Amino acid sequence: MKKLFLGALALMGSVVPTWAGEGMWLPFLLQARESELKKSGLRLTARDLYDANQASLKDGVVHFGGFCTGEVVSHQGLILTNHHCGYDAIQTHSSLENDYLTHGFWAKNQKEEKPNPGLFVDFIKRMEDVTSVVLKNVTFQMSEADREAEVAKSVTNHLAELKKANPNYLYSIKPIYYGLQYILIVSQRYSDVRLVGAPPSSIGKFGSDTDNWMWPRHTGDFSVFRVYASPSGSPADYDAKNIPLYVQNPLKVSLNGVKEGDFTMVYGFPGRTEEYLPASWVQHAVEELNPVRIEVRKRLLGTWDSAMRVDPAIKIAYASKYASSANAYKKWIGVNLGMERTDGLQKLEERQKANGAAPDELNAALKNAAPLLTSRELWVEVAGRGWELGQLVTLVNSKDSPEQIKQAVRDFYKDYSPELDRRALKKTAQYWFNEAYRVNTALILPPNNVWDGSVDPLYTGILAQTEKSLALLESNFDKWLAEAKQDPAFLVCTRLSEWQSSALLPGVRSFSKSTATALRLHTNGFLQGSNAARMYPDANSTLRLASGKVLPYSPSDGMEYGYQTTLDGYMAKYIPGDYEFDVDPRVRALHADRNYGAYALPNGQLPVCFIASNHTSGGNSGSPALDAKGRLIGINFDRVWEGTMSDYRFDESICRNVMVDIRFVLWTIEKVGEAPHLVAEMTLVKGR
Ligand code: ARG
Ligand code: ASP
Repeated sequence: MKKLFLGALALMGSVVPTWAGEGMWLPFLLQARESELKKSGLRLTARDLYDANQASLKDGVVHFGGFCTGEVVSHQGLILTNHHCGYDAIQTHSSLENDYLTHGFWAKNQKEEKPNPGLFVDFIKRMEDVTSVVLKNVTFQMSEADREAEVAKSVTNHLAELKKANPNYLYSIKPIYYGLQYILIVSQRYSDVRLVGAPPSSIGKFGSDTDNWMWPRHTGDFSVFRVYASPSGSPADYDAKNIPLYVQNPLKVSLNGVKEGDFTMVYGFPGRTEEYLPASWVQHAVEELNPVRIEVRKRLLGTWDSAMRVDPAIKIAYASKYASSANAYKKWIGVNLGMERTDGLQKLEERQKANGAAPDELNAALKNAAPLLTSRELWVEVAGRGWELGQLVTLVNSKDSPEQIKQAVRDFYKDYSPELDRRALKKTAQYWFNEAYRVNTALILPPNNVWDGSVDPLYTGILAQTEKSLALLESNFDKWLAEAKQDPAFLVCTRLSEWQSSALLPGVRSFSKSTATALRLHTNGFLQGSNAARMYPDANSTLRLASGKVLPYSPSDGMEYGYQTTLDGYMAKYIPGDYEFDVDPRVRALHADRNYGAYALPNGQLPVCFIASNHTSGGNSGSPALDAKGRLIGINFDRVWEGTMSDYRFDESICRNVMVDIRFVLWTIEKVGEAPHLVAEMTLVKGR
């Protein structure tokens, strides 16, 4: 029966676009979708979800540090987000004696909660369509440059007026649909955000890179923070006198759990999607750019990994770099898998045809610029992001004061192996100079007088000698700088970036400038077409609501995954002493005793993660997953591998977001962290 159901959906997808589940909707426009949401299962009104003047669910959702989402779960400003969102904070407070990353951290009382300078959360006060204000003086005949100038002028003026009327809020205006419309976001920033708790990494990061972007998943990817305010309740930087922020409408937490077909929502801040790109552009990304990115990172990560496995010092030094590089690497592979399995490019073609979009001019422009865009991506991956010594040079060039440079250089060397960098660059440069060239002779390579591609000579100067370089840096900065500037790596890196600025960048810039108008018109086609009501703006780090259903998932023929995982499955992955799959002794003991408290399923198992068809993206990490009544049932942290294609095209047959079940979060806090006082702050609800 289930197979049939999925089959039918896939079939539908080839004829008409399947829209159920798709979309990340602007909360202030939800009124128009209220009846549809109710039909899908919502038991609230649009105004319960978002209201600028009265209490609504949006009050409990925060933009965490500008890069993740968090949710307020108590009147005392208690916040939940992901472990990987709080990772830097947890790491900063960790030391060998107090290794919170490994063992977890739980503040026993508010005095023990740890401040994190630089970390903030933003509460959204209201959002508005300000298109008519921003485009007041813009006409269709205007050149792109004139349009830009007009837009900039009205945006600046409008923001200044708003700030004058109420200086306590932050205001920003962002384009949607490539500048067809503009939205205003009014928010309030609190910058005293303290670390309250984090599970051991063997829960919060369980499965690490191996399980990343994968299902079935067993990661308790959450951490706990608290927002503080001045004694009068207003935003303030850290001060010992600050008190927990009183929040009137924290989210309620549901103990009901989920079952297949349940209505769910994810409320958060997705960062970037590109659903309106012409199919030919997506094809270029999938068939040209992604293979380049994947191949370069495969070489880079493979080199790092082989050293990390045998050298514990390298393992520590490279862990964080490895994780962030691998995250994107693995995602690109997933995007391509998903596109292939769902015939995604073909469907994008059909979709744009059905919606009356007009990409001819854009197709032609891409065809023209494609080799240049690919060449630029190679530069970015090999010489830009992939070359560590090159990054050191860029650091030195981008800082002004000697003190800033010195600090940046010290930080750089802390996690750096010149030998590993040399070995990696050898492999990536080889690809750049041989393979890519062989595959497509139009790919542009730096000319010989810029760099002939040889790697060893770049590691003969002072910059590649960590100790010598650091000693001179501390004893005689001017001499260090003079020597650094004569270093072969410095010279090549500088020449390479000059070359890319003159040979690649102008073409790339003129491609995006010259296609801006056509891209806007193309997108306008979607908004004027018969499916206009189903359109939603690309993610741009503004607050969005996605809705979907708890559903199993079939990544390929003959394979079907359930929608939920349990602690038994977590224990089945246990590899003693392994850096990805070790299990904390407390978890082992609790599992042995089946000590699951109030959080077990009717069959006695402890739920860990679940999936649903909510349309999410990077930035949605930490977002609350809500039930039909808006109660917290989980914390979003990932997507299934093939489903990452949803940044270009959402396909309900394989796109699933991954959430940690809130009952597993509560169990970890209460039983593993022995911090029941935090659970006691929350409002738990049981029953429908
Ligand atoms: N894939 C998730 C996201 O894009 C989680 C990343 C953190 N986890 C990791 N193993 N690197 O943010
Ligand atoms: N893991 C992502 C994040 O950190 C979420 C996603 O891409 O699905 O935002």
